[in-house]
Amino acid sequence: MNLISNEALQPFDIVLFGATGDLSLRKLIPALYFQDRDGQMPEDGRIIGAARSDYDSVAFRTWIDQEVRQYIPKDQLDEAEWGRFLKRIEYLKVDVTAQDDYRKLGEMLAGREEHVRAFYLSVAPSLFGAITDGVHAAGLITPNSRVALEKPLGRDEETAEAINDRLAAVFTESQIFRIDHYLGKETVQNLLALRFGNALFEPLWRAELISDVQITIAEDLGVDGRGAFYDQTGALRDMVQNHLLQLLVIIAMEPPVSVDADAVRDEKIKVLRALKPLVGIDAIRNSVRGRYTAGAYDSGPVPGYLDNDTIPDDSMTETYVAIRAEIASWRWAGVPFYLRTGKRLPGKCTEIIVNFKRVPHEIFPTADGFATPNQLVIRLQPEESIRMRIYVKAWGDDIQLQPVNLNLDFNDVFQKRRLIAYERLLMDIVRGNQTLFMRRDEVAEAWRWIDPIRAAWEQYDYAPVPYEAGTWGPVEANALMSRDGLKWAEE
Ligand code: BG6
Repeated sequence: MNLISNEALQPFDIVLFGATGDLSLRKLIPALYFQDRDGQMPEDGRIIGAARSDYDSVAFRTWIDQEVRQYIPKDQLDEAEWGRFLKRIEYLKVDVTAQDDYRKLGEMLAGREEHVRAFYLSVAPSLFGAITDGVHAAGLITPNSRVALEKPLGRDEETAEAINDRLAAVFTESQIFRIDHYLGKETVQNLLALRFGNALFEPLWRAELISDVQITIAEDLGVDGRGAFYDQTGALRDMVQNHLLQLLVIIAMEPPVSVDADAVRDEKIKVLRALKPLVGIDAIRNSVRGRYTAGAYDSGPVPGYLDNDTIPDDSMTETYVAIRAEIASWRWAGVPFYLRTGKRLPGKCTEIIVNFKRVPHEIFPTADGFATPNQLVIRLQPEESIRMRIYVKAWGDDIQLQPVNLNLDFNDVFQKRRLIAYERLLMDIVRGNQTLFMRRDEVAEAWRWIDPIRAAWEQYDYAPVPYEAGTWGPVEANALMSRDGLKWAEE
């Protein structure tokens, strides 16, 4: 099993719990369609939608046909292929707490015990246990079965461990696929390729040459329709514990001996373990918590977080987090890693910036006094690109250096459709390839670093500071960097 596995898929049944939900309609069903259209699916691959709504298979297909079209770009929707794809979909009305419904599911799955069987839980975490117990009690877990779970996996280490214990009671670890959809993004995998497929970067990838690393996941969207869920979660749990930490870990990990799932995950977890704990006043000094107020974009005004009817007036939930982290290891000693994420920032952008140190002895005059040393910018969204800033001599009589960018835009290089993250992840679940999924100890270790930060916020009554929607977050986040004589890339 490895990262680049493209082996043909075995016949499968994907049982999609929460099939009528947002994720299923926006991402999962379109991802499955794309893979089918591109000829990646075996003939005998079925998708069984399971949810509370009262449909039969034919009515569910009609509903999916209406609902999902809007999430597939018109030029990508081939009517004949789409019609053929819909025939793969069956439906079962399920109350996840009713054991009899698992018996009915068993009837649908009967005679296909040799096939890959994937239970995909796109439901609230409070239902995970009921479903895994239900399929177990009905005898539906075959050796070729897997279970896939969406985050959030718990609210802290303790609750995550409780979920994991319950999963472990009926599935083996090799059957459990914990999803962080950022790992399915092409550029995240390209980050591994860049670091470990090129001789160029590895010798530079260390504290002697790198000044700091900045990782930003910015979104222009607010919490809108997800207010009730979001208010129980907040940016630290929703984005930092998983997506931001996963990006940090991939930037910072040591070279694995191979791309085997455990070889990669063994190295990733070492980084999580080496993160310097942020506890008490240290957490307060090294983190910023923000919440957006009303503001405006070119498209018009937007309300503030607290203006949402589903959010209580005394909410203490953050929509923005910035953290200064350090990794206590030989490679990274003293290099700050600045992480930030927020809703209602100026635009959607995910970017990793590696800033290199200045040359040790400057012999050339420069246009900017070497104020902008070499920089590697890896952009994941909206477009996928890698940019390297170097100094060159500007044309003319003088020897004066000027920073310029070497740009690599993946759209120009590959000129083909970029897979959406869930295509890769769904196919890896069927293949049984766990490289891009989180292992139990990884999830626990990430919570172990996050929990004290939240505890410190509570202990010191650190309420989220306001920032106007459409801006780059609270000014306090600038102070986090200016202390080190640095600033965020775009400011
Ligand atoms: C999800 C979070 O995991 O990731 C959302 O729950 C967030 O709040 C989303 O909007 C961002 O994902 P992407 O792929 O759009 O960057």
